[in-house]
Amino acid sequence: MSDDNAVKMTTMNYDKDRPAAENPVKIEDLSLRDGHQSLFATRGRTEDMIPVAEMMDEVGFWAMEVWGGATFDTMHRFLNEDPWERIRTLKRYIKKTPFSMLLRAQNLVGYRNYADDVARAFVDRTAANGMDVFRTFDALNDYRNFETVVPVIKECGKHFQGCICYTLTEPRLGGEVYNIDYYVNKAKDLEAMGADSICLKDMAGLIAPYDAYAVIKAMKGAVKPPIHLHSHFTSGMSSMTHLKAIEAGVDIIDTVMAPYGFRTSHAAIEPLVMTLLGTDRDTGFDIRQLAAINEILEKEILPKYRHLLDDTKSAITDINVLLHQTPGGMLSNLVNQLREMDALDKIDEVYAELPRVRKDLGQIPLVTPTSQIVGIQTVNNVLFDDENERYKMITGQVKDLCYGLYGKTAVPINPEVQKKALKGYDRGEEPISCRPAEVLEPELEKAKKDTEGLAVDLDDVLIYALYPVTGKKFLKWKYGKEQPPKEVQPRTLEDAKAEQELLKKAKAGKLVEIPEKAAPAKGENFRTFNVFVDDEYFEVGVDPGEGAPVINYVQPTPGAAVAAYAPAAPAPAPAVAKPAPAPKADEPKAAPAPAAAVEGTSLFAPMPGMIISFEKKVGDEINEGETIVILEAMKMENALPAPAGGTIKAINYSSGDSVAKGDVLCVIG
Ligand code: CO
Repeated sequence: MSDDNAVKMTTMNYDKDRPAAENPVKIEDLSLRDGHQSLFATRGRTEDMIPVAEMMDEVGFWAMEVWGGATFDTMHRFLNEDPWERIRTLKRYIKKTPFSMLLRAQNLVGYRNYADDVARAFVDRTAANGMDVFRTFDALNDYRNFETVVPVIKECGKHFQGCICYTLTEPRLGGEVYNIDYYVNKAKDLEAMGADSICLKDMAGLIAPYDAYAVIKAMKGAVKPPIHLHSHFTSGMSSMTHLKAIEAGVDIIDTVMAPYGFRTSHAAIEPLVMTLLGTDRDTGFDIRQLAAINEILEKEILPKYRHLLDDTKSAITDINVLLHQTPGGMLSNLVNQLREMDALDKIDEVYAELPRVRKDLGQIPLVTPTSQIVGIQTVNNVLFDDENERYKMITGQVKDLCYGLYGKTAVPINPEVQKKALKGYDRGEEPISCRPAEVLEPELEKAKKDTEGLAVDLDDVLIYALYPVTGKKFLKWKYGKEQPPKEVQPRTLEDAKAEQELLKKAKAGKLVEIPEKAAPAKGENFRTFNVFVDDEYFEVGVDPGEGAPVINYVQPTPGAAVAAYAPAAPAPAPAVAKPAPAPKADEPKAAPAPAAAVEGTSLFAPMPGMIISFEKKVGDEINEGETIVILEAMKMENALPAPAGGTIKAINYSSGDSVAKGDVLCVIG
């Protein structure tokens, strides 16, 4: 790009004198997939895409990403929308611009590897419903996970775009693993697989402008397919990165419409159009047309979603990406996890431990789902390890990774960690080295059987095959066999406006708070307590409401969590609980009965989470260290071992129950 071009433009009439670019940068718009996925938890509804669909079709985008990634999951689960229908509906409005989707290779649009028969059927049906460009990635950059889907994409006559997930082990490009050679070699692999284009996928916004220049220049020199850059704004570098990538000769750039832009999403298209105006890489887009689309988005669409925007921070850039290369989503998960465990003070230890865990696990890229896998294991290590033992609590997903179920890691996994993780692992203690899906049994026929009488076609069956629990529920809503709950209904512009009005009034101090409930009359158990805080004295009235005060349980085992349950009443506390009042018949599921008078060693929940299953039942004889219960926390499964040997005396929860840190899960006597 020459300086002359830029100078010429200052005196040029926007419309008449704009020369056609020699090599225009092609643009893929991501507003309708990654845009709302990054900013609004993927909650965008089809009805909110239609008002701008025809106008966006006129812009001249190389492609529009409208599907894939998390959309399939959120649509059927939270929006009561048939994911397949979205492609067909949008196709009626967007007739010229090719559609693009994000395909997680053998993970399809889910979070695990699916069997080959499901993968083939899914790609085939996606193509038949109208998808054109299949942007395909694997979290480990293990292209054996492409081997099933790519031939189907090709057979359907569609565009196979192969991705390289961009990641780092150093602050900038380089080091022993993720250097220029790594990316060039990956690009060559994709070319050999028949990639119609190659996408450098920078999901965390890590790629620095000069590194983008170096990598893209090298890739352009090494392979023939067009090079496409996908770089999230998260760290704040991506606008600069786009410009350097363009100078290096990148063919296609991903952007969004301004209202869907910045923060953890992507840089907006409008500034780029103006930046390149009149140069030999001019997009040729009409900025006034883009402004007209923005007007509709701002006034009619985005107000419905603004409540989903994370506005807890003033900065729209994430400094932690620059400091620790921690992707934004991963960091907020870690912070949440630590907060729930009252351990936010350990965040610096987590930052220090994270690169160690990642190294132990083969320096894998940090992207869904690997960012989660590494992140939660790091938190577990910080909270539960001691100087004598590391990896005390290994999640189920880390075990799967060590087994090879996600694919080949960038460097070998630490053999000690691998051996420890696979001890007693149910698929076997020897890791596999084959393509992961080879160890998976076919799943499609079973899915067909399971949905007999409910699924009408293969598209329905696939919703179930990918998401058995929520997929089945959706099919029941779809065919009127169950009433969808209120939460899945769309929020209207009126709802949003009414809420805005209320907020305005509240801010102006014009809202009067009405007490929710009048105080009830004092009951027969009403008692007063004298409370002394330093020199101050308060008289506090306490009415337990139902019956006399009951101490639910007092555990002999020391522990902070138990102390929290101890009554503060000055009256002599009974050492053992009185029987808790029986739950009323009309309460379908009361809290599980606490391990009242049972004596023994308690297994406490080390973290808040949901019970997946108890591996043992009351009366079972167990040895110390045997797995008793699988607890899911932050989507990761943790096998909790018995703190002592003996007989299981009480189990307090069942599958699906939520537990808090310190809850007594079972008692061993
Ligand atoms: Co993205």
